Amino acid sequence: MSSIFDKFAPLQEQHTALTALGRSPDQLQFEDIISPTEAMLNGKRTILMGTNNYLGMTFDEGAVNAAIEALKTQGTGTTGSRIANGSYNGHKALEEELAVFYGMRSAILFSTGYQANLGAIAALAGRDDYLLIDADSHASIYDACRLSDAQVIRFRHNDPVNLERKLKRLEGTSGSKLIVVESIYSMLGDMVPLKEFVEIKKKYGAYLLIDEAHSLGVLGQKGRGLCEREGVEGDIDFITGTFSKSIGTVGGFLVSNLPGLGIVRFVSRPYMFTASPPPSVVASARKTLAKIAGATDLRKKLWDNATQLYTGLQQAGFELGPTISPIVAIRLSDPEKAIGLWNGLLDAGVYTNLALPPATPFGWYLLRSSISAAHTTEQIALAIEVCTRIGRELGLITLSNSKRADKTAQQGNGAAQLNGDLQTRPCATSETESAVTPTTDDPAARV
Ligand SMILES: Cc1ncc(COP(=O)(O)O)c(C=O)c1O
Repeated sequence: MSSIFDKFAPLQEQHTALTALGRSPDQLQFEDIISPTEAMLNGKRTILMGTNNYLGMTFDEGAVNAAIEALKTQGTGTTGSRIANGSYNGHKALEEELAVFYGMRSAILFSTGYQANLGAIAALAGRDDYLLIDADSHASIYDACRLSDAQVIRFRHNDPVNLERKLKRLEGTSGSKLIVVESIYSMLGDMVPLKEFVEIKKKYGAYLLIDEAHSLGVLGQKGRGLCEREGVEGDIDFITGTFSKSIGTVGGFLVSNLPGLGIVRFVSRPYMFTASPPPSVVASARKTLAKIAGATDLRKKLWDNATQLYTGLQQAGFELGPTISPIVAIRLSDPEKAIGLWNGLLDAGVYTNLALPPATPFGWYLLRSSISAAHTTEQIALAIEVCTRIGRELGLITLSNSKRADKTAQQGNGAAQLNGDLQTRPCATSETESAVTPTTDDPAARV
């Protein structure tokens, strides 16, 4: 008799093959979390190089104590949506603090960053509207397209010319046009050429939403992200973000300067039909958010660390993403070698993310690291050394391609990236450009 799981047979086969070569990412279980950068894994002290913990805030004393206090005084959860159960003081306070932080009129809190994109985008782009999304968008953006009644149009990754062509075709149509981009793309760490997109959105009277998931706390003098770094905050209509990365907890948000944002609460299903963030999470997020603007030294350390890892791996001869960023991805084309490298690193006590197609651009196999300000120079040096040794053993790099100066990559010091003194070079990845109805196996849907 057939089973409801039969349709997953090809995926199951792929998973079995992956596990046969070593471990599977879903089976990893940390026995102990020692610090933001170290954990015990299979009895081994392991350096965490893939946690998105950009500022190392997960053990921040103020955040931990605030969460404990909130647990004791307000309990473990809200047990319902704010529309049904009402808001706690912390929800409102955090929304006000987010609005002040971004210098925007208002903010709406969501339970995760995924839900912020899902809820904001699907609500903002309705029937008769147009949703223009980058081909390399995160899965939450693709899923928002499925939930939205708008017509979805995909433009080439980081390609303003391609976007303009699509917008031109819509001239004379009456619906609102919402362009959605990400500041730092989560697989390769490349950044959107934001100023060019802002020019286009202004020219065509479109709205622009940017997901600053990987840039909050990471970019800009005050840590407000790419919009701050590029000096275009006044031209951005909507910002979404997450607390699951630099803020060190969980939750998401939408901020905007446009009047009337509040109505989104009543049309956004991922806001209305799910439990609101628990008080402990809200309390720790508030503590961390309050530190972001002043965390200049952490940001500098983060970018210095990113530069150390990127240049070290590049000089070893690995193929990387196009630009130095806190996301450093080794690009590989051979699945067995990618899995071999990932397992070899784990055996040596270095944890990275293994990202496989279809969640990766061009069907690459990626070993993705997300660096933290909490990493020490020694931890990063060790990771580079181990990676290089295993890369050589697997024949991924040879002595001849080591220490090659890759002229195409942006070298330089991390502070220059942080403050925008270096230009971001657009990285062409996915080439697809048709109007789409996204599907689950969409090669551009990112995890
Ligand atoms: C670009 C981007 N947006 C949104 C999210 C979702 O964030 P959260 O973990 O808060 O659901 C992620 C997380 O992976 C992401 O990388």
